[in-house]
Amino acid sequence: MPETGVLRAPRELLFGAGIADATGELARRLSDRVLVVTDAALAAGEAARRVLDSLRSQGLEVELFDGTVPELPMDVVLDAIGRARRTAPRCMIGLGGGSSIDLAKLVALGVAHGEDLRSFYGEEQVPGPVAPVIAIPTTAGTGSEVTPVAVLTDPEAVLKVGISSRHLIPTYAVVDPVMSHGCPPRVTAHAGIDALAHAVEAFTAADRRLPPGTNAVFVGKNSLSDAFALLAVSHIAPHLLAAQRDEPDARAAVAYGSLCAGLAFGTAGTAVAHALQYPIGARTNTPHGLGTGLLLAYAMRFNRSARVAELAAIGRAMGVTGDGHNDERAADEAIGAVAELASAVGLPTSLAELDVAEGELPGLARQALGVGRLIVNNPRELGEEELLEILRAAWRGELARPAPVSVS
Ligand SMILES: NC(=O)c1ccc[n+]([C@@H]2O[C@H](COP(=O)([O-])OP(=O)(O)OC[C@H]3O[C@@H](n4cnc5c(N)ncnc54)[C@H](O)[C@@H]3O)[C@@H](O)[C@H]2O)c1
Ligand SMILES: [Fe+2]
Repeated sequence: MPETGVLRAPRELLFGAGIADATGELARRLSDRVLVVTDAALAAGEAARRVLDSLRSQGLEVELFDGTVPELPMDVVLDAIGRARRTAPRCMIGLGGGSSIDLAKLVALGVAHGEDLRSFYGEEQVPGPVAPVIAIPTTAGTGSEVTPVAVLTDPEAVLKVGISSRHLIPTYAVVDPVMSHGCPPRVTAHAGIDALAHAVEAFTAADRRLPPGTNAVFVGKNSLSDAFALLAVSHIAPHLLAAQRDEPDARAAVAYGSLCAGLAFGTAGTAVAHALQYPIGARTNTPHGLGTGLLLAYAMRFNRSARVAELAAIGRAMGVTGDGHNDERAADEAIGAVAELASAVGLPTSLAELDVAEGELPGLARQALGVGRLIVNNPRELGEEELLEILRAAWRGELARPAPVSVS
C-alpha cells in the first residue's frame, strides 16, 4: 500500500501533437499583454511562428525577448528582467529548452519581487507568488515546464546556482512533441539522457518522509513521484535513439517521458549524479545533460546496495531485463543498459575524455559535497571518499561499452 505521496504540478498540463496552437487561448485567461521569452535561433523558426500566431489570433499584445543564451548567464537574465519591468507584461511565455523556460520563470520572479536574484538562491526563499508563466518546451527535456526550479550562471559563484520554490512552477505547461522535431541530435541526446537521470534519481532517492508542511521543495522518494518516474523511464529509454533520428512517434514518447520525469523529480528531487555534474559542468564547460548522462550509470552502481529492487524495476521498465531474472540480476542489467544508452547517443564515456586530470578529482568531490540539497537526497550516505569513488570510476570509464549504433 502506498504510504506517503506528494505531487506538485502546474494548474493545467496539456500534452499532444498540435497542442501549442492553444497557447493563445490559455494566455488570454491570464492577461492581455504577454512576453514571449526564447532564443534567436528558435525565434526565427516554425515553433515560434506557431506560438506567436496563436497569441495574436486572440488579439493579445505580444512582445518578444529572443536573447536567451544557454546555461543563462546573469547579465542576460538581468537584461530580460529590465526589459519586462519597462514594458510590464503580465504573463511570461517560456518557449524553448530549459534555458528559455528558466529565463521566463526568472523574469516572472524579477518582475514580482525585484532584481536581487541572489536573495532567492536555495530552497523556498521566494517570498510569494510570481507572475504567471506558460512553459512550452522545444527539447525533451529538462522538465522545467513542471518543476519549481530555475538555474542560472552567476559570475560570482563557482558553480551554477538554483532557485527552487513552489512559486516557480509554471501556471500552464504545454508539451507539444512537434516542437522538438528537428532538434539537433546532440541537444536531443543531452536533454533526453538528463530526463532519464531525473526519473532514475527520483525513483532511487532517499525515502525522507518529511512531515506534511515541511518547508522543503524536494521531499525525497514517495508513492506519487514513483509512479511518474517509472512512466518516464519506460517512455524515454527505449525511444531515445529513434528520437535522435527525428522519428515522430519516438519524439512524442520522449517528450511525454521527460514531462513525467519532471513531475517525479520536481517533488522527489535528484541526487548524486546531479550533485557531481555541477562542478564538472563548471570545470569542463559542458552541457548539463552531458554530465548527468555520463555519471548516471556510476551513480546507479554506487547506490545499488541500497536500491536493488528499485534498480530492477527500472531495468524492467526499460525493457532490458531477461525473463525471470531476479532483482540482483535485473539491477545489473539496468546499470549496463544505461551506460550503453549513454554511449549509443554519443556521450563521452569517461571523465578523462573531457580532459579532466585525475588529480582534480578530490577538488571536484569537495565541491559536489557542497551541493547539500542533492547530497541529502541520495539513498546512500555521501562523504568526500564516496564521491571520489564514483568520480574515479567515471574518470576511468569503467562501465563504458562499445556503442552499438553510431550517431553523427
Ligand atoms: N528548471 C529545471 O528544472 C531544469 C532541469 C534541468 C536542467 N535545467 C537547465 O536547462 C538548461 C538546459 O536546457 P536544454 O537542454 O533544454 O537546452 P537549452 O535550452 O540550453 O538549448 C540548447 C540549444 O538547443 C537549441 N534548441 C532547443 N530546442 C530546439 C529545437 N526544437 N530545434 C532546434 N534547436 C533547438 C537552442 O536554441 C539552444 O541553442 C540548463 O541551463 C540546465 O541547467 C533546468
Ligand atoms: Fe538534470
